[in-house]
Amino acid sequence: MSETIDTLLQEDRIFPPSEAFKANANLNDPAIYGQADADWQGWWEGWAEKLDWFEKWHTVVEWNQPYSKWFLGGKINACYNCVDRHVKNGLGNRIAWIGEGEPGDVREFTYSMVLEHVQRLANAIKSLGVGKGDRVCIYMGQGPELCLAMLACARIGAAHSVVFGGFSAQSIQERVNDAEAKLVITADGSWRRGNIIPLKQIVDSAIEMGCPSVTNVLVYERVGAPFAETMGIPAPDYNRGTWVEGRDVWWHDVVPQQSDDCPCEPMDSEDLLYILYTSGSTGKPKGIMHTTGGYLVGTSATSKCVFDYKDSDIYWCTADCGWVTGHSYVVYGPMANCVTQVLYEGSPDTPEKDRFWRTVEKHKVTILYTAPTAIRTFMKWGEEYPAACDLSSLRLLGSVGEPINPEAWMWYHRVIGGERCPIVDTWWQTETGAIMITSLPGIVPAKPGSATKVFPGVWATIYDEDGNDLVKTQGVPVGGFLVLKRPWPSMLRGIWGDQDRYVKTYWSKFSDAYFAGDGAKLDADGYFWLLGRVDDIMLVSGHNISTMEVESALVDHPKVAEAAVIGKAHDVKGQAVAAFVILKGSAEPSDELAQELKKHVATKIGALARPDDLIFSAELPKTRSGKIMRRLLRDVAEGRVLGDVTTLADPAIVQSLKCQYEDKEG
Ligand code: WT7
Repeated sequence: MSETIDTLLQEDRIFPPSEAFKANANLNDPAIYGQADADWQGWWEGWAEKLDWFEKWHTVVEWNQPYSKWFLGGKINACYNCVDRHVKNGLGNRIAWIGEGEPGDVREFTYSMVLEHVQRLANAIKSLGVGKGDRVCIYMGQGPELCLAMLACARIGAAHSVVFGGFSAQSIQERVNDAEAKLVITADGSWRRGNIIPLKQIVDSAIEMGCPSVTNVLVYERVGAPFAETMGIPAPDYNRGTWVEGRDVWWHDVVPQQSDDCPCEPMDSEDLLYILYTSGSTGKPKGIMHTTGGYLVGTSATSKCVFDYKDSDIYWCTADCGWVTGHSYVVYGPMANCVTQVLYEGSPDTPEKDRFWRTVEKHKVTILYTAPTAIRTFMKWGEEYPAACDLSSLRLLGSVGEPINPEAWMWYHRVIGGERCPIVDTWWQTETGAIMITSLPGIVPAKPGSATKVFPGVWATIYDEDGNDLVKTQGVPVGGFLVLKRPWPSMLRGIWGDQDRYVKTYWSKFSDAYFAGDGAKLDADGYFWLLGRVDDIMLVSGHNISTMEVESALVDHPKVAEAAVIGKAHDVKGQAVAAFVILKGSAEPSDELAQELKKHVATKIGALARPDDLIFSAELPKTRSGKIMRRLLRDVAEGRVLGDVTTLADPAIVQSLKCQYEDKEG
């Protein structure tokens, strides 16, 4: 990559929060930025003081790059802070979870009920021989029991490793073995798009492949006959797996009779809270480690400031606990703030494409946190679905997971937010544990497509290839590698079992900063614009062009719902732009439209970025967390044998794109 990344897309729209929103916001004084920057340790310490500690820390942070330790000497328990203390403070009757299953069943849990259930479950887990320092693999569908399982582990000091309940047996086996988990907590199944994912059967296959550390499997009965009976539906037909006596244990056989008293284990601030595997672009998954005190401080502080929680809020983060977003912004951050939230099990189009909006209407959701990939899907489905629902309860919207294209932002703002809700675009990573770049909704005017400013106390800047801080040497606007310059409490503590890989992955490109792969530009107002992974940035005729900017230019066209752009090897230009485009419901693909779209990109951001190839497609290859796999699109465009497709949500898509591409090339 050359010195800087060319900045092509211009976006001048700006949306300040309303005076009313500002007046009531948890944070509304811009001075907070300067204060937190001047005394960043004091800023984080202030947030630590809002939690309950069994013993106070003696040192806020110890920084030996690349290792940080936070709140040293402190003793704390994450479950205690998310549950017990709220009940002790008289908030036991507040609803913690509104658990809505895909078939329409709704179960509410107050904080008192969570406390009772989590203690029984924690005792059951202990009775299976699991204790402080052990690892537990959790493989369940999104819902109250998954959150209970995480909290119960935290309560007794066992680290959880949640594996997304849609991953394969092989992914479970790999993760269980890497973490040497003793126990797997799963369910008989979970509902997805009207079908049952046979979770227990998949766990059986994983263990058959060899998981020597596993001594027990604890199985929650979610979809079986008793559920069908309460719903008045026929008992479902699904693969229940094979019951292994002595290993497998039903939740309903061992949990309810346990005592509802299970004291919280006082954990050292730096004790492991969880491992979460992230696939990374190549090689075996990395077990990202998060510890207890700092992580809880980071997630609780960002939740409170970014989502602006009030006692009356009903919050809904649509992410599954299989991802970090579910860890930080379903379980730990929100629950440390005693929030009431919706947990939804299934797909957004079951029974109809309005399921999200019906859910917002039904539970009067006030804060919605979702992903750009979902927003673009809703755009494609059409406005009629949200338009038919009452979304007036919403007051704040959030976005996470990838850059949000300005047009998707505008749609979210207008159609979902009724032009009254601030949008927080939050940039962070599994590794950062908590939000790093985001607006504070009562302070920072939004610009569509920009994640705006650093969270107070965080220091981010832009480097060039040689590690020069371009903000210092060139000033703004500037583009390059996004780096974080000082430690933050929720930063990863390393990679489980492979600290060399930790150093190599995040701390070797630059000698004095954390770099985890993203390109960004900083505009003249000091706003960050994320440009995607630097591996995805194209080099066309000597110019670095972000795939994300070309995608946004395409999505800007009224007929385009979604686009993926890659650089394809080209004899003359080095790389040529190739685009894969999904049209909106009513639009028809044609050569004329392809020409029109290429021209649209050229007018919007310049002839340099004009796609050479443009393929219409009904779908794009995505990971199960919704990220476009550009690597595979490059394979398609360059006519290579397809690489590893096992982490794709639907492997058939790339094959069909490959055929289309080959037809086109003749
Ligand atoms: C990568 C991290 C953060 C939780 C979910 C994904 C991209 C994430 C944004 C955003 C632009 C974003 C980055 C980052 N990303 N949020 N608001 N704007 N890009 O966690 O799987 O660890 O992925 O997601 O590329 O590095 P993850």
